[in-house]
Amino acid sequence: MITRFILILPALLALRAGARTLTVVNSCPFTVWPAMFTDPNVGQDVPDFVTGWEAAPGSSVNFVVPDGWKAGRIWGRRDCDFTVAPGPNSCLDGGCNGGLECDRTTGTGVPPATVAEWTLQGDGNNDFYDVSLVDGYNLPMAIAASVSCPAPSCPVDLGPTCPEPLIGPFDSSGFPVGCKSACSANIDGNPLDSANCCSGSHDTAATCPTSGVAFYSYFKGNCPNAYAYAFDESSGTALWECSASLNANYTLTFCP
Ligand SMILES: *[C@@H]1O[C@H](CO)[C@@H](O)[C@H](O)[C@H]1NC(C)=O
Repeated sequence: MITRFILILPALLALRAGARTLTVVNSCPFTVWPAMFTDPNVGQDVPDFVTGWEAAPGSSVNFVVPDGWKAGRIWGRRDCDFTVAPGPNSCLDGGCNGGLECDRTTGTGVPPATVAEWTLQGDGNNDFYDVSLVDGYNLPMAIAASVSCPAPSCPVDLGPTCPEPLIGPFDSSGFPVGCKSACSANIDGNPLDSANCCSGSHDTAATCPTSGVAFYSYFKGNCPNAYAYAFDESSGTALWECSASLNANYTLTFCP
């Protein structure tokens, strides 16, 4: 009796705790260095996986993320070299404090970077997820769920078509490997009170309309299912939901 109890209890706990599988695929014809960050102010449930790794062209990894993963983000870094002074400047874009593995408290990415974001088991027992261009663009990406749920993406290369004030950085051949947001390009010169950054007197959805965000329509027009500025939720095509009761697994693909 006692033996059976001991065997069954952990199995039941494991079921109740639940977990999802996240797969990260690099379909780009070049190496990408994916990075992962979980906002420690929001949740302590972090994936049991490294916070940064090298992904050769065509490679994929998968790992388990906790059912209660909150404020998690994954992005790709381009043209990295961690041999000298590993840190945020080890990559042309997307680099983080820590080098190859991002620091778990301060290791967010250096813009521009396209970011995939998840909050599992959020309000109303829904998973919330999106492909964000709020920090600009550096790689095409797509999220797919293993169940019948939305598949947000920014599948096109916004580097070559990026508007002049936002374009860059550039790789050694002169190719643009990023397209900055109007905020991080600081085109209005006042990041603390900026309609482009939704900061200062523009820090609400009402005071930061899309009409005040320079080049909003460039990003949203090219990637209509992506999160194109800080308050894009009102577009109805930025933040996506999937019932957490479906226990979806998710796949993130670079260069889908
Ligand atoms: C999620 O992935 C796990 C591990 O591969 C699998 O057992 C499970 O059936 C998948 N769940 C769904 C809803 O796709």
